[in-house]
Amino acid sequence: MAEHHPRRALITGITGQDGSYLTELLLQQGYDVVGLVRRSSTVSFERIAHLQDRITIVSGDLLDEASLIEALRLHRPAEVYNLAAQSFVQTSFGQPVLTGETTALGVTRLLDAIRIVDPSIRFYQASSSEMFGKVREVPQTETTPFYPRSPYGVAKVYGHWITVNYRESYGLHASSGILFNHESPRRGLEFVSRKISHAAAAISLGRQRELRLGNLDAKRDWGFAGDYVKAMWLMVQQDKPGDYVVCTGETHSVREFCELAFAHLGMDYRDYVVIDEAFMRPAEVDLLVGDAGRAASELGWHRAVGFQQLVAMMVDADLDLLQGKLKGIS
Ligand code: NAP
Ligand code: GDD
Repeated sequence: MAEHHPRRALITGITGQDGSYLTELLLQQGYDVVGLVRRSSTVSFERIAHLQDRITIVSGDLLDEASLIEALRLHRPAEVYNLAAQSFVQTSFGQPVLTGETTALGVTRLLDAIRIVDPSIRFYQASSSEMFGKVREVPQTETTPFYPRSPYGVAKVYGHWITVNYRESYGLHASSGILFNHESPRRGLEFVSRKISHAAAAISLGRQRELRLGNLDAKRDWGFAGDYVKAMWLMVQQDKPGDYVVCTGETHSVREFCELAFAHLGMDYRDYVVIDEAFMRPAEVDLLVGDAGRAASELGWHRAVGFQQLVAMMVDADLDLLQGKLKGIS
């Protein structure tokens, strides 16, 4: 079989938030980018519309191993970034088996496809700070034990360990980024950051009256997705594969996110936010805050965007979007 293409990367989850930023980064680095996209009745290319004529799309699904083998055989990438997942924690409580099939077993299917087609492919797995769940230590590092609190978190722990296992069993160059929450104007509207930024913008324009939220006391280590995709790429470029925590080292509550987002538009969140039990989770992750020391020393990775800047960026982008100044979310 022919050699793989040295500067070609395949990204699963290319239509998602991180997929779009990673595609931009890899194109800047001179890569051929191939995006694996699952079939749906309507296309969801909003985040990559501005990149579409510079990338190749291949059809495939993490639920179907044959489609993954075929995609690798057809395109022969040197690097594979597995960003695809059922990624919404709340949905994982209602669809635990689907979440396991995609977010856990999907990783094995992809690793197996790599083992079968070309074990010299370098692999990145999108692991998550949700694996720390009910945290065993503060801050969380690469050696903090996992205690997931949702079917999503449990599935990510499986995905993490199967990546380690294929590295150790078959010598694959397989790395995991344990990424803490990262957001952007391209974040899905169901996640709390974007739900708040979009609502604050809509309320300021008189298009929405209130914002219904769940637990305002949960704390997260929130960074900017554009910074975090650089860490993914850096991991794959190392001589040796490994696992790295990627975070800002700061933690803020959902309440603080609300305060800043509404204040950015001259409003007080307390006038608009309504607590709604429907958005509470059966088990919650109360506090996440990471230590990215290893990523800093070994990868030379540092985040550029801070919390206040992130909130302002998201609110401004939603204001522009609602006022029709932006087309789509690119
Ligand atoms: P996202 O916006 O929800 O994107 C998820 C992607 O997965 C979409 O492109 C989706 O395609 C695709 N997908 C879902 N099921 C699939 C399947 N069965 N086969 C193929 N593709 C499938 O997620 P994100 O925020 O970019 O996150 C990227 C990855 O990092 C995910 O694995 C997530 O769990 C993980 N992660 C995210 C964060 C964060 O804070 N953002 C933190 C840690 C880890 P459709 O467009 O067809 O739905
Ligand atoms: N989504 C949502 N909607 N969350 C709410 C709401 C609401 O109305 N009200 C309060 N929250 C709280 C949640 O209970 C949670 O504690 C926090 O806001 C953040 O929720 P999400 O934005 O949905 O993100 P997440 O932390 O559960 O998961 C995200 O980060 C993980 C990394 O730690 C996702 O991107 C995961 O895919 C990712 O792995």
